Amino acid sequence: MTAFVLGATGFVGREVVRQLVVRGRKTLAHVRPDSSKLAEWRAKFDELGAQTDTTPWDAVALAARWREVKPTQVYILIGTTRAKAKADAVQGNIYETVDYGLTKLAVDAARGSEVTPRLVYLSSVGADPKARSAYLSWRGKAEDAVKTSGLPWVIARPSIITGERDDSRMGERTAAVVGDGLLAVARVLGGKTLRARYRSTTPDVLASALIRIGEAPEHDLVVDGDALR
Ligand SMILES: NC(=O)c1ccc[n+]([C@@H]2O[C@H](COP(=O)([O-])OP(=O)(O)OC[C@H]3O[C@@H](n4cnc5c(N)ncnc54)[C@H](OP(=O)(O)O)[C@@H]3O)[C@@H](O)[C@H]2O)c1
Repeated sequence: MTAFVLGATGFVGREVVRQLVVRGRKTLAHVRPDSSKLAEWRAKFDELGAQTDTTPWDAVALAARWREVKPTQVYILIGTTRAKAKADAVQGNIYETVDYGLTKLAVDAARGSEVTPRLVYLSSVGADPKARSAYLSWRGKAEDAVKTSGLPWVIARPSIITGERDDSRMGERTAAVVGDGLLAVARVLGGKTLRARYRSTTPDVLASALIRIGEAPEHDLVVDGDALR
């Protein structure tokens, strides 16, 4: 099996890369070619035993690369935040441009590659094209692009992903603590399903689940809650 990981430098992506290598998978960790930390990431991925790939974010270039390396899974673990989009000078609606736009580009590249990788898409609980939140709405539209790709796919919808990260996101951590506390109360009152769906997770648990659903015989599934543990 050959895995190609888009978003390999992310909080979840780097853990997916690490666990894929541990499982003996040939792993290509994608880093955007203009990354200011390219040398750092190359050294980190070398150390892990993954190959760093710097194909530009361009559908034709990615399709050609995938024709060559024939990935069995393409992990799409990308997305931006307001702070990151500002630093990247992303124009327009940041979730449309990055979260949806790069996912759609990856889908188009996979379709044009003449190989049939499984798309493993990291989405979010609450993703829905009709959602009021721009983030969840564009996530929903990205899910639709994956589902209608004509390729095998799996979609993971975790809740908050917590843990020690470089760019401390206090908001997320607080949401995890408060959310888990409220859900513990909900459980006592009988909200077991609610708790399973909205309970926070960690990159190691999520990475393991992503690889499991990425390699399982079943596909074309949306997975959330306890199925991601
Ligand atoms: N964190 C959570 O609590 C949570 C919960 C549910 C769902 N999710 C979803 O899961 C995704 C991954 O989560 P994460 O915590 O691993 O995110 P993360 O640490 O912010 O990683 C995001 C990845 O996307 C890449 N990226 C961002 N903007 C880009 C751009 N303009 N061009 C190219 N690449 C770009 C980053 O590359 P660089 O390193 O080069 O910037 C990085 O590899 C998120 O985007 C989010 O929508 C997250």
